[in-house]
Amino acid sequence: MGRRVNSIDELEAWRKEVIDGLDPNRPLIVVCHGTGCVAGGSPFVTKALKAALEESGVAADLAIEVKTTGCQGFCSRGPLVSIYPQGIFYQQVKPEDADEIVNETVKNGNLVDRLLYKDAKTNQYIPKIDDIPFYKLQHRLVLKNFGTLDPCSIEDSLASGGYRALSKALLTMTPDGIIDEVKTSYIRGRGGAGFPTGLKWRFARDAQGDVKYVLCNADEGDPGAFMDRSILEADPHAVLEGMVIAAKAIGSHQGYIYCRTEYQLAIERMNIAIAQAKESGLLGKNILGSGFDFDLEIYEGAGAFVCGEETALMASIEGRRGMPRPRPPFPAHQGLWKKPSILNNVETFANIGRIIYEGGAAYAAVGTETSKGSKVFALSGVVNNIGLVEVPMGIPIRTIIDDIGGGIPKKKKFKAVQLGGPSGGCVPTDHLDTVIDYEEIAKVGAIMGSGGMIVMDETTCMVDMARFFMEFIQDESCGKCTPCREGTRRMLDILEGICEGKGEPGDIEKLEELSEVIKESALCGLGQTGPNPVLSTLRYFRHEYEAHIYEKRCPAKRCAALLKFEIDIELCKKCGLCAKACPQNTIIWQKKEVAFLNKDGCVQCLSCYSVCPSGAIF
Ligand SMILES: Cc1cc2nc3c(=O)[nH]c(=O)nc-3n(C[C@H](O)[C@H](O)[C@H](O)COP(=O)(O)O)c2cc1C
Ligand code: FES
Repeated sequence: MGRRVNSIDELEAWRKEVIDGLDPNRPLIVVCHGTGCVAGGSPFVTKALKAALEESGVAADLAIEVKTTGCQGFCSRGPLVSIYPQGIFYQQVKPEDADEIVNETVKNGNLVDRLLYKDAKTNQYIPKIDDIPFYKLQHRLVLKNFGTLDPCSIEDSLASGGYRALSKALLTMTPDGIIDEVKTSYIRGRGGAGFPTGLKWRFARDAQGDVKYVLCNADEGDPGAFMDRSILEADPHAVLEGMVIAAKAIGSHQGYIYCRTEYQLAIERMNIAIAQAKESGLLGKNILGSGFDFDLEIYEGAGAFVCGEETALMASIEGRRGMPRPRPPFPAHQGLWKKPSILNNVETFANIGRIIYEGGAAYAAVGTETSKGSKVFALSGVVNNIGLVEVPMGIPIRTIIDDIGGGIPKKKKFKAVQLGGPSGGCVPTDHLDTVIDYEEIAKVGAIMGSGGMIVMDETTCMVDMARFFMEFIQDESCGKCTPCREGTRRMLDILEGICEGKGEPGDIEKLEELSEVIKESALCGLGQTGPNPVLSTLRYFRHEYEAHIYEKRCPAKRCAALLKFEIDIELCKKCGLCAKACPQNTIIWQKKEVAFLNKDGCVQCLSCYSVCPSGAIF
């Protein structure tokens, strides 16, 4: 049986006991058990480390603990292992490395160089986690505890300050006081649209009705996005805390977390956190002896992008097909089962504890005039450091890509960064100094979105990129409204034609016309924003569309139908990488000789293009 607390005093006594029991200088090995690292084999690393500690006798000598956490952010370098109290950071660790880590580092304080992070710009090893630019330059508020907190331990959550905002809100604040604090913070929803959270809660508070719902949107359908999944996996109690505070603010007693079913690890950890919170009296009946009741459960969605749209999400929880409906009525007045409801994103809820405990003004001190606090991004694509990053609003996009992300690999040139997924747009080189701010990003034709940030280098074809997002939108359109169902199909046909070398004069104008009509007339945000990647690439890369249509040429050499598949003997560096990459063995190459491509067996897979260092294949 867990421990139940019935008042602030009891909660604080428990917290004190947990913190008093922790020695900040205790030796500790921390292994990342986020989805990325687990996929890379981190549970085997943990097992091997435990065995190595036992075998070497270090476990008994040092009373060292092996601890597992949620995603620490640097997923592309996983599995990650850190050694404390020194704060040594090892990457891409395999079970075979366990003995050396224990005997060299833990026992004797020596570094295992091959496991250290090597900076791509300076070529220097950086042994300590706090010195690695990827971590050092971030501003971690939501992700603060990701490298230290065991998501399955409520004690860890308490030690990190968990549930102190909850006790403050439930036992010392009125609902209006909570909403005022959230309004003062001026936090805007992190799910994409950036609607002020305090205002949304105010509408729901003021709505008539005894039954109200608090809903958490963990559908996360954007390609390349994994912010919300990681938050749920790493700090589930922070999300629960935010939801209970929201419930008190609007007068709700039941909530749901709508999470896509493939997020099994997130669901598992969230269920553990819910059970722990209930057992401890931090969820359920008479929370902390305050007389306030709030319960919640997880609803597993089948993973349709449109189910992230608020009215579709509610239809899905009600057991109906996840399709949107026209608004108004807005969910704050008529939401789930026609009752007043608020829906917030995972990251939005994860910020609430800090806002309530430290005050809205402290939160609003970070950021720009209209965009406050920090934002978590999933940095991916062609960038050295791929992973989860949290930055203060107001930071230039260039800093994220060049400094935190470590720039573009293989000495390639930056071309654009795609923000906001299928609803977003791209920011080209000329606008890289745009700062992270809802309005500033919108001015250059992209959107903040939920935090997908896909970096593209000179080898990306922007027409193909637009085609990819339109294909996604077309696949995910629920089909309820004609502009989205038929219009996006038509746009996709045109884009496919252009990429296949069948583009015709007038195609660009048709794309523009269709985009405007769909944006104006589609039923929900999916259709209304679906043409954005096309419009934004047309804005900055119209010449690429024109080259495809009028010259039957793909400037980035990505569209297979527009390539000749020949080798320029002047440019060929005789390295043979193309021959090694070719899955069909159609490239003939001998050491110090120019490569020769035999077109007969070529399946135009582009493998040779991808690896050629000199652009000799055309
Ligand atoms: C097609 C579509 C998909 C969406 N998917 C998500 C999602 O996966 N997660 C999310 O938080 N918001 C998503 N949204 C936005 C939500 O509908 C809603 O605005 C948001 O969850 C509100 O929370 P916030 O105010 O905290 O941002 C989506 C919107 C649309 C139109
Ligand atoms: S899963 Fe380990 S760093 Fe993301």
